[in-house]
Amino acid sequence: MKNDHWIDLRSDTVTQPPPDMRAAMAAAEVGDDVYGDDPTVNRLQEVMADRFGFEAGLFFPSGTQSNLAALMSHCGRGDEYLVGQDAHTYKYEQGGAAVLASIQPQPLEHEPHGGIALERIAAAIKPDDIHFARTRLLALENTIGGRVLPLDYQREATAFAHAKGLRTHLDGARIFNAIVKLGVSEPAAVAGFDSVSVCLSKGLGAPAGSVLLGSREFIGTARRWRKALGGAMRQVGILAAAGLYALEHHVARLADDHANAAFFAAALADLGLHVQPPQTNIFYVDIPAEQVAALAQHLAECGIRASVAAHMRLVTHLNLSRADVETALTAFRRFPGRLR
Ligand SMILES: Cc1ncc(COP(=O)(O)O)c(C=O)c1O
Repeated sequence: MKNDHWIDLRSDTVTQPPPDMRAAMAAAEVGDDVYGDDPTVNRLQEVMADRFGFEAGLFFPSGTQSNLAALMSHCGRGDEYLVGQDAHTYKYEQGGAAVLASIQPQPLEHEPHGGIALERIAAAIKPDDIHFARTRLLALENTIGGRVLPLDYQREATAFAHAKGLRTHLDGARIFNAIVKLGVSEPAAVAGFDSVSVCLSKGLGAPAGSVLLGSREFIGTARRWRKALGGAMRQVGILAAAGLYALEHHVARLADDHANAAFFAAALADLGLHVQPPQTNIFYVDIPAEQVAALAQHLAECGIRASVAAHMRLVTHLNLSRADVETALTAFRRFPGRLR
């Protein structure tokens, strides 16, 4: 089966760059970005910084590296960042901050909305004492597991962190999903954060790339770390052009992904499955443990790629149409086992 004929529910990172995006990539003006000579990268960085209301931006090959460079720019060896137990920068990046940068994570329980309670943050900030790491940073994520952090919460948490002398970083891999869902401007969506990492390769459908945003000084530091991490690339305007195309053509359409997720989730709930209703393009459904293997096989036989698990994540995206969702639903309906 050809790659683009699969119905893929695993992630919004599985998308194929559309022909017009590929044309924009092919036509990109490029230069050596390590010398700062790539006009397309420079334009992407400026566009993103302007759009989000920051002084500067820096293009990275991946969100993992952008987040890591941000943590390294905020924290030094023996410093600590406060982070949610389920946050990507803690749980899904192999502990890179600790492993590669000698930065201690202090993981904390999430609130149901995906943030961390201010009392929990306050209790986790270490006193100035030689026994403790120095708490330097609060790192949040938006969206997180498809949930949109409430703007009031973000405002309170970042103001609280600043009042306690901490810096604030947002893993905004899917911040555009939050922006479209809330109908707010980019600066409003990230107000209070000293730095934000935005992915172009998730819902926006670019093949690679993230942009880190912050003050000119912060981005200068991050540029040094990016070089040390091996993330400084040469004629990478080819990828930046995909990002610029995505910013122009793929932001407003995220509303379609949200609508497809809502439709999909409601239909699965109608089948009697326990579904966590989606806020954006990611939602979870519970599958009886004894049916996981059989459902995985059944969906694969129906031409559907899915991360089947007892708590199963389903993701809608640019290459998943309403008709694809209907096909997936038919496959769920035809599954011979008991799913409720
Ligand atoms: C919330 C979040 N942050 C960061 C990343 C890392 O991005 P990348 O895969 O580009 O390293 C991901 C990847 O899925 C993510 O979901």
